[in-house]
Amino acid sequence: MKIDKQEFIASLGGPSAVDSMNPEAQADAIEDFMMKRLNTEKFGLALKGLNEPGIALDASGKYPTMAEIEAQIETRDYRRGVGNLFLSHTGGVPKLPPMPARPTLADYFKQRFTFTGNHVLQSANLAMKNGLSEEIILACLLHDTIQELIKVDHGWWSAQLYEPYVSEKVAFAIRYHQALRFYEDKEYGYEYPEIYRMFFGEDYKPEPYIEAAYQMVRNHKWYFETRMVTVNDLYSFEPGVNPQLEEFTDIIGRHFKQPKEGLGFDNSPVAHMWRSIATPDRPL
Ligand SMILES: [Fe+2]
Ligand SMILES: [Fe+2]
Repeated sequence: MKIDKQEFIASLGGPSAVDSMNPEAQADAIEDFMMKRLNTEKFGLALKGLNEPGIALDASGKYPTMAEIEAQIETRDYRRGVGNLFLSHTGGVPKLPPMPARPTLADYFKQRFTFTGNHVLQSANLAMKNGLSEEIILACLLHDTIQELIKVDHGWWSAQLYEPYVSEKVAFAIRYHQALRFYEDKEYGYEYPEIYRMFFGEDYKPEPYIEAAYQMVRNHKWYFETRMVTVNDLYSFEPGVNPQLEEFTDIIGRHFKQPKEGLGFDNSPVAHMWRSIATPDRPL
C-alpha cells in the first residue's frame, strides 16, 4: 500500500504535531493510518470522500448494528449531522480564506466546498461521460455540497439552498437523491451502498418519510433524473481522480442563475444559508 506522506501528516495535525511525537507513537500512527486506508479501500471510498472523521471502521470488516451505532453517540464530541465546515478533521479547524464581496458558485467551490468538492466533481464528470443531460450533470455537481453546512437530511437542505437558482427539475433530483440512495434499482445498475451498512447499521430500515419520498419519486416523471444522480454518486469516491470545476463552466452558465449581488447578498429566502457557509466562524 502506498502512503501519501502529505495526507498522513495532515491526518495527524500537520508537521509540528508529527515532530512532537516519539518514534513509537509515530509507528502506531502509521499502522492506524494504513488500517483505516485499507478498510477505506475495501469499501471503495477515498478517505476524503468518507466525509466523516469519527466513523468506526471495524478492522474485521463486520458491519455494526443500529444499537452499536447508537452506543457511539456519547463517545463523540460532535453530532454526526453537523456540516464539515464546523468539524475538525485533523485536530483543529483551519482559518478560512475570506470570500469576495459578490461571491459566485465557483468561489464557494474553490474556498468553501473543501470536503465535498472532489466527490461532486467526480459525479458530474461521470454523468458527463455517461452522456446524460446538462440538468442531470448540474444536479450531480451540486447534490452533496450542502454537507459543508449540514449533513442530516442533506437532500432536502441542498435542494432548498439551490432552488432559487436552478430549474425545478434540478432541485427535485437534488432533493430526492437522498431517499433513492437507500433503494436498489437493478435496471439502472444501482445497488444499496456498502458504506450505508457502516453509516446506519446493517439492520437499518429507512424511516417512513424516506420510504414515502421514495414511493412518490418512483412514479414521478423525473424519476430517471433523480435515479441518475444516485447512479453517478455511487462510483464517485475514487482516490486520485480530480476533475476541475472549469469543465462545467458552460453548464453552470446555462443552468445556474448567478445573482449579480453575489450568493448570500441577493435577499433571496436562502441568502442566510450561503452567508453561513461563507462565514461559519461568526458567533451569532
Ligand atoms: Fe447525497
Ligand atoms: Fe454523493
